[in-house]
Amino acid sequence: MNYTTETMVVAVAAFLALLAAAFAHDHLFAVHMGILCLCLVVGTLLLVKNAEFSPTGQQRKTDLTGYCDEVIRYGLIATVFWGVVGFLVGVIIALQLAFPDLNIAPYLNFGRLRPVHTSAVIFAFGGNALIMTSFYVVQRTCRARLFGGTLAWFVFWGYQLFIVMAATGYVIGINQAREYAEPEWYVDLWLTIVWVAYLAVYLGTILKRREPHIYVANWFYLSFIVTIAMLHVVNNLAVPASFLGSKSYSLFSGVQDALTQWWYGHNAVGFFLTAGFLGMMYYFVPKQANRPVYSYRLSIIHFWALIFMYIWAGPHHLHYTALPDWAQTLGMVFSVMLWMPSWGGMINGLMTLSGAWDKIRTDPIIRMMIVAIAFYGMSTFEGPMMSIKAVNSLSHYTEWTIGHVHSGALGWVGMITFGAIYYLTPKLWGRERLYSLRMVNWHFWLATLGIVIYAAVLWVAGIQQGLMWREYNSQGFLVYSFAETVAAMIPYYVLRAVGGALYLAGGLVMAWNVFMTLRGHLRDEAPMPTSLVPQAQPAE
Ligand code: HEM
Ligand code: HEM
Repeated sequence: MNYTTETMVVAVAAFLALLAAAFAHDHLFAVHMGILCLCLVVGTLLLVKNAEFSPTGQQRKTDLTGYCDEVIRYGLIATVFWGVVGFLVGVIIALQLAFPDLNIAPYLNFGRLRPVHTSAVIFAFGGNALIMTSFYVVQRTCRARLFGGTLAWFVFWGYQLFIVMAATGYVIGINQAREYAEPEWYVDLWLTIVWVAYLAVYLGTILKRREPHIYVANWFYLSFIVTIAMLHVVNNLAVPASFLGSKSYSLFSGVQDALTQWWYGHNAVGFFLTAGFLGMMYYFVPKQANRPVYSYRLSIIHFWALIFMYIWAGPHHLHYTALPDWAQTLGMVFSVMLWMPSWGGMINGLMTLSGAWDKIRTDPIIRMMIVAIAFYGMSTFEGPMMSIKAVNSLSHYTEWTIGHVHSGALGWVGMITFGAIYYLTPKLWGRERLYSLRMVNWHFWLATLGIVIYAAVLWVAGIQQGLMWREYNSQGFLVYSFAETVAAMIPYYVLRAVGGALYLAGGLVMAWNVFMTLRGHLRDEAPMPTSLVPQAQPAE
């Protein structure tokens, strides 16, 4: 492949970044542009190494499957890498809450590392998982190669650049203070370009499909891509204070600003952390279980119900605020109704195992997927319950919310992704099987134990915290000072860090297993038990 044009474009971009650093309006922008320039110089060097300057160019190694799989292999490695980084930063901030002395100001304090954690796990780990699995699924279910030639590579590398720019920005202090949308205006613009390219690749592949039917997983992935584009653009509408500066001002203010943020925030949960991963579920669970989807009709009904309802539920994040009461109630009602379509997905996922339940015992990958679906069911029961105003008056601002987040995030998002990674790794690298199935089992138990500790501890902590905050004595005074309620949380914070460390350990086991599989090794180990029925023993 001849990379001459790409090399030139990246080299020119590196030069422009250097100019932007030189003429920057503020110091932070200069540093950030310096980082960008460095990334682009590295990119240019890598491209020069691969570039072929002869007039004809050499034929690029094509995939034997006829599909564009190389970019998916890169995506899988990126998912594992960012997963481990995100979990590690999660453990670090968990420890910082338990032991405040671990805050290293200004670059490595909690305030700066928290968005590094949330972006690393949601956008870097989750985003790479969604992009790479969507590329895999759309090609297989449409029987078509990815549309757009090298555009898929642009999506992959462009997305990694977005992640690096976002994370380095937070550490040096560039943050527009909108949760889950912290990067400043110029990084947002870059993500918009990358996302439009992603949509073009995905939609283009669907349009040129050789399979008349569009499989339901593609509907979920497509709704995720389209809605995230809409949410990202509206939530980030802002006016930069200077063309070469890092600061911008949102177009919204006051309660409208709050509502826009949570319209975005909740739908990031609904379409990034839910719809996209349901797409993953609808392809990988039937594949791994070797069973058809339990009810195709249910999958379509719950798809339309889910996307119609999610978009209205955002106000449940703003109960008892300046938001008009009717809007809060509307958000609550839609959230409660959301329980049904969410459980439609859970039931469909679980019941896909009908007739193959024994696989839960014998196949640790299926077990991971089933636990993921169970946690999906649990967090989508808990969420509607927490959105009821009376419940939210206790749970809001407390650790309970963090427990809810992580039962969804570690249980649903994490476990379903691990399942897909284990399914894909031997397939993508043409290996007979994974390096070790027993290590998958280890990963499963470490992760499950980690989640259970994390979530259970924070539920208890959250309810205690909420009750302490609202405890009045007979004369109408608060019983506990705020500092006392913080001190009461310390043991829970320590335990949460323990749960997180177990989850991280599971992630490391997975990274090793994937690494050894792609190196082509097979671990010499006793096979996993394959039957529930005890083997007959010969008589003595
Ligand atoms: C090793 C595993 C993990 C640990 C130890 C961990 C730890 C933490 C900690 C300490 C916080 C800050 C809580 C606070 O401000 O009070 C946090 C926030 C958050 N984490 Fe994690 N986390 C882990 C994995 C994940 C994963 C896999 C995801 C998503 C896929 C995730 C998503 C989030 C989100 C969305 C928040 C913000 C919650 C909110 O604002 O309500 N985390 N995490
Ligand atoms: C029917 C589905 C769901 C509903 C109705 C729902 C509802 C809620 C409610 C009421 C809150 C607390 C808002 C507050 O008091 O501030 C919340 C927080 C949150 N939920 Fe859910 N939830 C659902 C599913 C999920 C799932 C599956 C995930 C993750 C995969 C998730 C991730 C989050 C996150 C990240 C937050 C914290 C937002 C923040 O304050 O930063 N939710 N959810």
